[in-house]
This record gives sequence, structure tokens and C-alpha cells, in this order.
Amino acid sequence: MNAAAVRPGGERRWEERVQRAAHPLVYPLLSRVRRPAVRVPGIGVLVTDAGLLRGVLLDTASFTKTGPGSPAELWTPVLGPSVLLNMEGVDHLALRRRLAPLFAPAFVGELTRATVGAAAARLTERLVAGESIDLVAEVRDYAGRVISRLVGLDRDDIGEELFARVSAVTGYVRLARPRFTPTQVAVARSVLAELTEHARLAYHGDASTVPGRMRELGLSEDEAMGAVGAFVLTGTETLVSYLPRLVAILHDTGWLARLAADRALVDAAVAEGLRVTTPSPVMLRSVRAETAVGGVRVHPGDRLVLATFLADRAAGAFDPVGNPAASLKQLWFGAGVHFCLGAPLAMAQIDTTLGAVLDAAAAAPLRIAGRRAQRGTLIPAYARLALSR
Ligand code: HEM
Repeated sequence: MNAAAVRPGGERRWEERVQRAAHPLVYPLLSRVRRPAVRVPGIGVLVTDAGLLRGVLLDTASFTKTGPGSPAELWTPVLGPSVLLNMEGVDHLALRRRLAPLFAPAFVGELTRATVGAAAARLTERLVAGESIDLVAEVRDYAGRVISRLVGLDRDDIGEELFARVSAVTGYVRLARPRFTPTQVAVARSVLAELTEHARLAYHGDASTVPGRMRELGLSEDEAMGAVGAFVLTGTETLVSYLPRLVAILHDTGWLARLAADRALVDAAVAEGLRVTTPSPVMLRSVRAETAVGGVRVHPGDRLVLATFLADRAAGAFDPVGNPAASLKQLWFGAGVHFCLGAPLAMAQIDTTLGAVLDAAAAAPLRIAGRRAQRGTLIPAYARLALSR
């Protein structure tokens, strides 16, 4: 282990820097909130307590992802009306059921092997050979390979440029702005149209591609294109945010070398990493029926801002031994009917990539040769994290 690199609390200082760089105004504002639920003018009712937050997610009679201030208000103009994250009730359930085979263990295992397997094996070799690797660029490359697969492209890489345009679309999201402007909607739709141009062709082809498989699973062309758009928007930046942050935390706490020598606590470290980073930091709901949340009266049409990142980190500092994450039932992936559909794919990609880094660390101790936090992005992330021997 590179003992000189481990400073008590060092991982928290870097995490703080990453979050502040992304949201210089909102992050300090929300971090000061101590109450479990509080109305914040111009934003909505902020919920910071894990138990309350889970209660909201499970109570679909009182709270919804459609309606004023909800994800539907934001995303329906861009993605259309039927993309899971803007649906409720029986239609939502039926679409989730039809998509379920795409996230079954065998399917995500094969998708991960086919998209990142070889690159991850090369990552280990390159690190052991002494190359300095920017893990952000590396994971972004993996995400591009996954997107290519999802939209039915043969070639491995969809290109940095399109990835940057997808990030620009999520970058339009602001807590204080419940809707996109007409110009933003137009730009976002053109990015999505470019992606789904390939997916439409693949949809009409055989079931060897993901869109073709969606047709076989009974999705209409519009539903399949909406699902592709939703996967790209929800599943790309979360992983590009998480994996470099996880490796940075492992490095800064000395756990990288410990796990490389003994993998027994890898699963706990991954869960703890997800808890303290919470890559999808906030969820939104619209109030459907008069009720109260943590003593705050809420009315139909009110907007709830569920600050998962505050609820998760209230359980303490990163600790794979004590593993406070275990009591949170994967709150970082949501709860109830909208629980992250892509979680099995995310976990497969995380296991493969982290496994490759740990294999390299087992052969030769790794250090962070340089890093920089990304400014002004929706999902807090490193812009660069250089890993080398
Ligand atoms: C570490 C990575 C990820 C995290 C932390 C994450 C987190 C979340 C969270 C918190 C939700 C629930 C939102 C809510 O209830 O408002 C969600 C939903 C969703 N996620 Fe993920 N996600 C990740 C990766 C992925 C991936 C890789 C995919 C797919 C390719 C994906 C696809 C989805 C979809 C489709 C939904 C909507 C489900 C529904 O509304 O029924 N996610 N995700």
C-alpha cells in the first residue's frame, strides 16, 4: 500500500470538492439543511431523511412521477410519454415487465462481456505495464460501447462527441427549473433523434440487437425508442461518475491495496461507495393527494425534492467493515415501483471494471497521479482521474 497517500478523511475532502464543483450554489445550500423535511422557496419540499424518503417512494397513492414539478414535466417533451421514468400505474408496470428480460443476469452478463470484457482485461495489462490511465476517459469509452450496443450499432464506439452532447442535455437540468426551455427541448430531441436513427433500423432487424430484441418482447417502435433514450440518459453518466469516484475513495482510504490482496469485502466496498457518492443524488416527485411529510403539510401539485445523497451519507463515513450501507436497502437505486431497472447492468459493469483495477493493483501498487473535478455538471464527477503504478 502507498501509505503516504492515505490521509484520514482525505476521501471526504475530495468527494466534497467533486460535489461543490458540480453544484457550487445548490450543494452548500442543501448540505446545511438539518431538518428531515423542510419547504425551500423556489425549489419545493426537501426531504433528507432515509426513512421518510423511502416512505414517499413507496406511497404511490400520494406521490407521483407525473404532474407539476415531476420528472414527467421535464422529460416527456424530450422523450415522449412512455419511458418508464415519466409513467405510473398499470402501463408503467406492463412496460417494466416487458423490458425485464433485458436486465436478467444472463443478458446483462453477456452484454457486459461483449462490450467491456476485452477492454477491461487490457486495462489491467496497461496499468501493470506502467501506463498512466485516465479512468474517466476509460469508463466513458466503456459507456460508449454500451450505448452502441443499446442502439444496435455494430461498431464498438459511439464517439466522444455524441457522449458530450448527451451530457449537455442532462446538464440542462436545474433544481430551480422544473421545465426545459423550447430551445433546450429542440436540441435534446435532435440528440436523441441522432441516437435512435440507428436504433430504428435495428428495431426492424433481427433479435440479435437490443432494439430488435425489444420488438420481439412486444414493445412498439415508439416504446423501444423511448426505452433506448431513457437508458442512455440514466445509465451513462451515473457510471462515468461512480467508477472513478469509487476508485478514488478506495485509493484515498487505503482500501484499494487491501481489496487487491483480499477480495472478501469487495461487495461491501462497492455498496459503501454507492452510498457515499449516490451517483443519482436527487429524485423528484409531485404530490397527488393532500398529506404530510415529516410534519410538513403538502398539497396536490407541490414538488418534493428527495435528497438521497444527504439521506445516504447521514449513515456515516465510508466503512466497508461496519457497512452501514447494508441497512439502507440500496436507496441509491431508489425504492418501490421505479427502483432502478438498470441496476443489474450497472453492477455487472462495476464488478468488471473494479475487478480489472484490483487485478492490476494486486500485481503492482497503484496511485492517483492527478485528478480534477468536473465543473457545472448535473451528476457530480471527476473530469480526469489519472491512475498509474
Ligand atoms: C450507478 C449507476 C446507477 C444509479 C446510481 C442509478 C440510480 C437510479 C435511481 C435512483 C432511479 C430511480 C429514480 C426515481 O425513482 O425517481 C433509477 C431509475 C432508472 N434507472 Fe438507474 N441508476 C444507475 C444506472 C443505470 C443504468 C446502467 C441503467 C440502464 C441502462 C439505468 C436505467 C434506469 C431506468 C430505465 C430507470 C427508470 C425506472 C422506472 O422509472 O421504472 N440506470 N436509477
